[in-house]
Amino acid sequence: MPETLRYAGIVGVGAYAPQRVLTNEDLERMVETSNEWILERTGIRERRIAAPEQASSDLALAAAREALAQAGVAPEELDLVIVATNSPDMFFPATACLVQDALGARRAGAFDVSAGCTGFIYALSIGSQFIMTGAAEKVLVAGADSLSKMVNWEDRGTCILFGDAAGAVVLEPVPEGYGVLSFCLRADGSGGPLLTLPAGGSRLPASHETVDRKLHTIHMQGREIFKFAVRVMGEVALEVLRKAGVGPERVGCLIPHQANLRIIEAAAKRLGLGMDRVFVNLDRYGNTSAASIPVALKEALDGGYIRPGDYVVMVAFGTGLTWGGALVRWLPEERRGILPTDRRRNPESFSKAKFPVGGRGILPTDRRRNPESFSKAKFPVGEVCGC
Ligand code: ACO
Repeated sequence: MPETLRYAGIVGVGAYAPQRVLTNEDLERMVETSNEWILERTGIRERRIAAPEQASSDLALAAAREALAQAGVAPEELDLVIVATNSPDMFFPATACLVQDALGARRAGAFDVSAGCTGFIYALSIGSQFIMTGAAEKVLVAGADSLSKMVNWEDRGTCILFGDAAGAVVLEPVPEGYGVLSFCLRADGSGGPLLTLPAGGSRLPASHETVDRKLHTIHMQGREIFKFAVRVMGEVALEVLRKAGVGPERVGCLIPHQANLRIIEAAAKRLGLGMDRVFVNLDRYGNTSAASIPVALKEALDGGYIRPGDYVVMVAFGTGLTWGGALVRWLPEERRGILPTDRRRNPESFSKAKFPVGGRGILPTDRRRNPESFSKAKFPVGEVCGC
């Protein structure tokens, strides 16, 4: 073992979302709801839905391939593949093993992490430990979910919220003072009943009755989850900053779990951050669960919203209940994962950017000024691989 701990950093990022778009107007035809209600209460305009033959590992694979290509890392160099998911392809084998095999990561160990929408933060912290201790040199961490397969499409309280996607990062040792500077993982299992998928496990094995009672779909007490999220998101962001001795005023970009714009605004307010430093893309993807943070990270990088040396805070909450955060200092130089200088904070180049993503710019007021700009946005990556 090394005598001192190393720093672990993100050197490649990838993301994938399925092609099919489900808009609020589509949902108006499916349940008793309205575009206005969904937009006002959540900020979501549309979400992506996986094809019937696409499972979470397919989404993760596409994101992982992109992250590896950006990092310049070959699959056989990976020591570890970790997938955070709440919608694994099946109970076992682990989705991470399916991704490991499809990638050809022959030397890698592989396992899943189940921590609700906080899964990516949990997985990132685990992967970082392996790098920091010297136990691994290259780790792939993915967040992938296709909760559309587990939603009750007759329940307007949940079916409007979720979308499908995957994001992935490659971790490597980085220079001292960069990469993951702190993280914070929390759980309160007493709140588990607030958000469950009750049947199909060892408590309530699948039966005709569980299927008839729709117990294989998401059951959620939305208002209670909302109150919990508003309380913990700002708190945990402040905690990771405190641990690293970094003041909120030095945060370059906040990447929050993309569940609800009102929850995100409350977190930003708690940190004293203007929404110009908060990345938001939930209007186009909805809540993609464990994928939400790496997908937002990818779009924030592609849009030039994260600069070399920036302090980036990621925070999430989810079923469990779980919540957590990580503070990452982006790498100092123009290298993997970071776009050329002229794309950074240059409003001209943003408007010309291939992917007119949101974040700094996707604010409620901006939406009102230019409602069209978001519905036309294209997801930055291509077709899913192997489907
Ligand atoms: N369209 C129209 N009306 C609706 C809809 C809908 N889609 N859904 C609920 N309503 C109605 C309710 O029936 C209720 O009517 P009532 O007053 O007559 O009873 C009214 O709207 C208000 O309902 P609330 O639940 O109080 O609405 P709220 O403002 O809390 O918004 C929402 C609901 C959007 C679900 C919000 O509570 C929320 O975002 N909660 C957090 C959920 C979340 O993030 N979950 C994911 C966790 S991450 C993970 O691990 C997967």
